[in-house]
Amino acid sequence: MPIPYNQRTCYCGEAGAHLAGQTAILVGWVQSYRDHGGMVFIDLRDRTGLVQIKFNPETDPIAHQTAGKLRAEFCVAVRGDVAMRPEGLANPNLSTGAIEVNGREVEILSTSATPVFEVEDEIETNEETRLKYRYLDLRRTPMREALMTRHRICKTIRDYFDEQGFVEIETPFLTKSTPEGARDYLVPSRVHPGMVFALPQSPQLFKQLLMISGFDKYMQIVRCFRDEDLRADRQPEFTQLDMEMSFVQAEDVQRVIEGCMSRVMRVVHDIDIPTPFPRMTYEDAMRDYGIDRPDTRYELKIRDVSEAARGVDFRVFAEPLAAGGAVRCIVVPGGAQMTRKETDTLTEDLKGIGAGGLPLVKVGAGQDGKPVFETGIAKFFTPESTAAVSAASGAKPGDLILFAADTVANVCKYLGWLRETIARRRGMIPANLWNFLWVVDFPMFEFNTEDGRFYAVHHPFTAPRDEDIGKLENDPGSCRAKAYDVVLNGIELGGGSIRIHRADVQERVFDLLQLTPEEQQLKFRFLLEALRYGPPPHGGIALGIDRMVMLLTGASSLRDTFSFPKTQRAYCPLTEAPGPVAQSQLDELYLRLSLPPSKG
Ligand code: AMO
Repeated sequence: MPIPYNQRTCYCGEAGAHLAGQTAILVGWVQSYRDHGGMVFIDLRDRTGLVQIKFNPETDPIAHQTAGKLRAEFCVAVRGDVAMRPEGLANPNLSTGAIEVNGREVEILSTSATPVFEVEDEIETNEETRLKYRYLDLRRTPMREALMTRHRICKTIRDYFDEQGFVEIETPFLTKSTPEGARDYLVPSRVHPGMVFALPQSPQLFKQLLMISGFDKYMQIVRCFRDEDLRADRQPEFTQLDMEMSFVQAEDVQRVIEGCMSRVMRVVHDIDIPTPFPRMTYEDAMRDYGIDRPDTRYELKIRDVSEAARGVDFRVFAEPLAAGGAVRCIVVPGGAQMTRKETDTLTEDLKGIGAGGLPLVKVGAGQDGKPVFETGIAKFFTPESTAAVSAASGAKPGDLILFAADTVANVCKYLGWLRETIARRRGMIPANLWNFLWVVDFPMFEFNTEDGRFYAVHHPFTAPRDEDIGKLENDPGSCRAKAYDVVLNGIELGGGSIRIHRADVQERVFDLLQLTPEEQQLKFRFLLEALRYGPPPHGGIALGIDRMVMLLTGASSLRDTFSFPKTQRAYCPLTEAPGPVAQSQLDELYLRLSLPPSKG
């Protein structure tokens, strides 16, 4: 008689003492198989956990015989009697460790080829193989748990926004380019020869249009597509919690997000996080942390020693200072004990991101107890400049001072990197701290010296601060935006802003970004047109759901939060996408390929 697998009693991981004495039907995959003196034991696994099943040749010879054929990852149904394990044999490491199931019948629902890697919590298998056999990888506990946490986070978010009166509205995937700073994924149209859709980099413009429609509280958990260089915290398709509100100021949007994150932290980690989150201006973030997404779980703040460094007869300091740059440093407490190997590795790694080198000194104590500089570039310092730099940096005997001397932008880049790297390598990051932070008052525009023009720091729909609107034409570089980023433990979780809701201001911003009137019409006619029909003041934000799950589950890669992610090279080893396309499909789309020789 087949076992009615559609009538399972419970999930494997939920079988417990409450079932003792009852007959249960369980289904799942064989995690492990052991034969102890004729008695066969298997651990049966499903998405909730494991349960031990025992097959006794004396009492259940037929089941025992079938059990003897079981191998790892076979899919089976079992009917058996649940019994408390004998005294001393309970397994406290297993949620079901108090019981075992005496298997009376077992049915092999399907066999399995020998898995290419074992379905264990810890595996050494390379990522390409894990992704190729992702369905097996997802049987592993850490992966299963990450997806379950992701589900709980999304459900919590939806419930929260629903309670707050938000409406979830879907927006198109086949659309026009939405500028968020990356390349678009394009989809050629068959019906309109030569025309292409772009997959949305975000629903930015549609959510603004929904505000004009009067849906004053919109939210969506939505897939976005960006063809950009991938890093550990980026995927070509990823998911945003996207929201927009009308008749609000920045603080109103921030309050909703703080409430949302508090709820998520309570559900996932059972903790209360303090709200409101601290605010830090972009300027302070760059000055003290060298980065616009500071990790405030540890100190190691950057110190400006430019003035003090003017007294140092050292070309590496003098040249950037003369050219309007800066000399800044970080002081590593107790860092004088760092080995030569450690500082050499830091120097080499720093060169990897473009620095010329890493000037450093160790701080010792002179006879009078005052700091003296040793090793590294110590020989360039006089007692006076030593005292000045020590005072400006706050360095004490036993510390290590790491300098960067360059343009302000490069100094921030190098010291921001050093700060994070040293904290990580020296174990200075406290565990179980959740430092949420708003970074505010971003500049509106960034000047690119290569092509001599301004670019929007966020996107071109971000409103300038009221007092800066007058500077749009004359001094765009000093315009600040009504933009805000939410940062968690040094990772940018989300970004948003109050938007421009006046067509004339939007056109002025487009002008400044050197979009000709023709380009403005071609790309954004619908927006400029819509802004003529009573647009409400509005603003919103989008948070990366994948990054949120990564941070909250402690995953080291964004890929571990996706069911079916792409590799670092934007490739799916499982489906082998992207793949070639049939000539007939190209013909239908009026496309002809012109490949570089190596690929042709
Ligand atoms: P932004 O471009 O800052 O803003 O994106 C918002 C958040 O989305 C996440 N994110 C990504 N996650 C994974 N892989 C990627 N490639 C990737 N790119 C972005 C980040 C980021 O903070 N329309 C605006 C939002 C707004 O203004 O309301 C936008 O998309 O966590």
